[in-house]
Amino acid sequence: MKKAKIYTITSVKGGTGKTTFALNLAATYALNKKKVLVIDLDVAAGDIAARLNLEYEKDLYLCYEDMRNHTFDAVEDYIYPYKQGIDILPAPKDPRNANKMEASFLSYLFSKVSLKYDVILVDTNHLLSPLNLLAFDYSDKILFVINNECMNLKGMRTMSAIFEDIESNKMVVVLNDSTKKTNGEYSITDMKNVMKREIDYRVPQSFFQKKYDKYVMNGTIFLLEKKIRSHSSRALKVFQLIARSLLKED
Ligand SMILES: Nc1ncnc2c1ncn2[C@@H]1O[C@H](COP(=O)(O)OP(=O)(O)OP(=O)(O)O)[C@@H](O)[C@H]1O
Ligand SMILES: [Mg+2]
Repeated sequence: MKKAKIYTITSVKGGTGKTTFALNLAATYALNKKKVLVIDLDVAAGDIAARLNLEYEKDLYLCYEDMRNHTFDAVEDYIYPYKQGIDILPAPKDPRNANKMEASFLSYLFSKVSLKYDVILVDTNHLLSPLNLLAFDYSDKILFVINNECMNLKGMRTMSAIFEDIESNKMVVVLNDSTKKTNGEYSITDMKNVMKREIDYRVPQSFFQKKYDKYVMNGTIFLLEKKIRSHSSRALKVFQLIARSLLKED
């Protein structure tokens, strides 16, 4: 049976554009007629449901509780459809529940969803928490979204050394130039030298959306908007390349 590919989106610092990237990658897969689930594993601050103006009752924490208490019926009960075949499993509504979930529950969760989707995207925070580490274990690839900024690069050097140490080839580095209007100060060569690693993909600065907040208020994913796709054709090509290459590699 076909199992979903699992890609976790993470970083070494907060605010690098992970969630925006994850949602636009989901949109890209959806535009390619793939069935996509986005799991919001940013358990303390996850905001995907709010960003997308999703109406929902159940969340990841309730899913965990029901599995633990044997009151779990079907995983679909915790998953909400957005648009274009993108499904969302929301993070805990109440951040106080964030640290109550045992990481091991992820194995049960993935076993329940992986036959139902082509691609599962897991959006995380930037911490090496037990939950995130277990998500890494189950992932086919782990995408580190970085900015052109000193502590991102230094953090990536450490992370890259760890991945080499454990002989993992799951790391994918995505340089995201689109969180700010201006480009960062380091050249690609500088960045590679600091990180001691290649950059696999680069989201162009032209993907910066002046009206970011307006789109978030409207619950939009940029690449699902025809207008943005035509204005950001370079970014769209990068997302298409990432989406295709990840599936090909596995
Ligand atoms: N394409 C974009 N255009 C304009 N601004 C952007 C874009 N992507 C990200 N940003 C800016 O960067 C901020 C952080 O983006 P996002 O929430 O996607 O990052 P994150 O890595 O998920 O953050 P966190 O670590 O808090 O989860 C946004 O609030 C927005 O201000
Ligand atoms: Mg985020």
